[in-house]
Amino acid sequence: MSLSDVIILAVKPRILREVVEDIASGVGKEALVISIAAGVPLAKIESFFKRPVCLVRVMPNMPALVGSGVSAFSLGRHATARHRKIAEAVLGAFGECVPVPEKALDLVTAVSGSGPAYFFLLAEKMIEAAYELGMKVDVAKRLVYQTAFGSGRILVEQGEDPEVLIERVASKGGTTEAALKVFKKQGFGKVVRDAVGAAYRRSKEMREEN
Ligand SMILES: NC(=O)c1ccc[n+]([C@@H]2O[C@H](COP(=O)([O-])OP(=O)(O)OC[C@H]3O[C@@H](n4cnc5c(N)ncnc54)[C@H](OP(=O)(O)O)[C@@H]3O)[C@@H](O)[C@H]2O)c1
Repeated sequence: MSLSDVIILAVKPRILREVVEDIASGVGKEALVISIAAGVPLAKIESFFKRPVCLVRVMPNMPALVGSGVSAFSLGRHATARHRKIAEAVLGAFGECVPVPEKALDLVTAVSGSGPAYFFLLAEKMIEAAYELGMKVDVAKRLVYQTAFGSGRILVEQGEDPEVLIERVASKGGTTEAALKVFKKQGFGKVVRDAVGAAYRRSKEMREEN
């Protein structure tokens, strides 16, 4: 007998096997199991159940906390179109969701899984710079947080490429252009590429450890 139609596995990867073994007998043949355990492949979770199970693996991200998350998901071998619809409804309750092949999930982890921290880092550094240049921290925080929020909304709602938006803010010989020149000269693009690359490599290593 199935106790629930949808079961969400949201425990640390290292205890996933133990938890699955505890609940497996209560998971019905048609029930959908959604795993958000980072780096644990579908085949591995299926092997923990020791029988066919309708499974979806998801990489969500932290803004789910405020209903603005983005989740990438991959269907297991036994999940049907009906299970996909249910997964989209569950994930859609706290943001956007995007289907991807399972092999893309390591890169998703490096981009949107870890991504919020990259934006938080930029916010922190902007606040520090404003403070060092003479602004009160509480004022700098209000300015930076709202700038991040508004910029994110423009990216999502206007559908323009970042490059186009940058051009729109940076007038010739102006303040934004002066700042952008420093970002470029100091290799900001390379720093970001290297950082995302490091997260991607670590994500692959962690999958192999699981
Ligand atoms: N945090 C993120 O942004 C993020 C993003 C993507 C994926 N994930 C994945 O989400 C999962 C949870 O991460 P987290 O950061 O939320 O971890 P967490 O804060 O440690 O939460 C783990 C949860 O598991 C429960 N739990 C522990 N042992 C259990 C057991 N034996 N049986 C049933 N439940 C048990 C805990 O309940 P108690 O509190 O009652 O102990 C707690 O609610 C991980 O697999 C992680 O890879 C997290």
